Amino acid sequence: MSEDCRASHHACDAGREDHQHANGGDPLAEIARSKATRRSFIKGVIASGATLGATGYLFRAGSAEARTVGAVERLVSLKVNGQVRRVDVLAHETLANTLRYKLGLTGTKLSCDRGECGACTVLIGDTAFYSCTTLTHSVADKDITTVEGLAKNGQLHPVQKAFIEEIGPQCGFCTPGQVMSAVALLKANPHPTIEEAQRAMSGNLCRCGSYEQYLAGVMRAAKGG
Ligand code: FES
Ligand code: FES
Repeated sequence: MSEDCRASHHACDAGREDHQHANGGDPLAEIARSKATRRSFIKGVIASGATLGATGYLFRAGSAEARTVGAVERLVSLKVNGQVRRVDVLAHETLANTLRYKLGLTGTKLSCDRGECGACTVLIGDTAFYSCTTLTHSVADKDITTVEGLAKNGQLHPVQKAFIEEIGPQCGFCTPGQVMSAVALLKANPHPTIEEAQRAMSGNLCRCGSYEQYLAGVMRAAKGG
């Protein structure tokens, strides 16, 4: 090994061919040399990672640019079913994902995941929303109600009772969404006509085809059960 090579791994890397000649093709010497080179490489990666981390920290902490590219506080307080829940939310996370996979509220179903079926319907305030197309950050200061929040003192909500009476649920997958849409309708319009009820429920698909039963349930609940 040359003097240059003992002094510097860079010189070693640069002169690989020469080393093989200098070591006389000794495989043990070559392994020892390559391990030293690999250790240098790993040290370099760790060092550059630390540098990147520090750069990211400085960018988040002080840059005006960071505030203009949609940076959001990830830890948010959500008011769900009357309780404030602290949760770590990604910038583009949907409410359906937060409810189901961060807060364990799996009564809200995910089916199409693109605003077509209504399985994920929840209330924001008193209005029905598809939670799969609602960004969680956009409702951080709102009252959110899921199907788990409807029963009071161990009693089902009148809409839930009426759906059972009319045998609306078949497989049951669409039922939470159907319930939430019906609840929103009756909050806004306690005595809807059947046409109004049909229109209000039209955003909720049912693969089991139980539309007539759900509609009858809405009208039953409107009449007080
Ligand atoms: S899962 Fe949200 S509308 Fe279908
Ligand atoms: S009851 Fe099965 S999808 Fe509606």
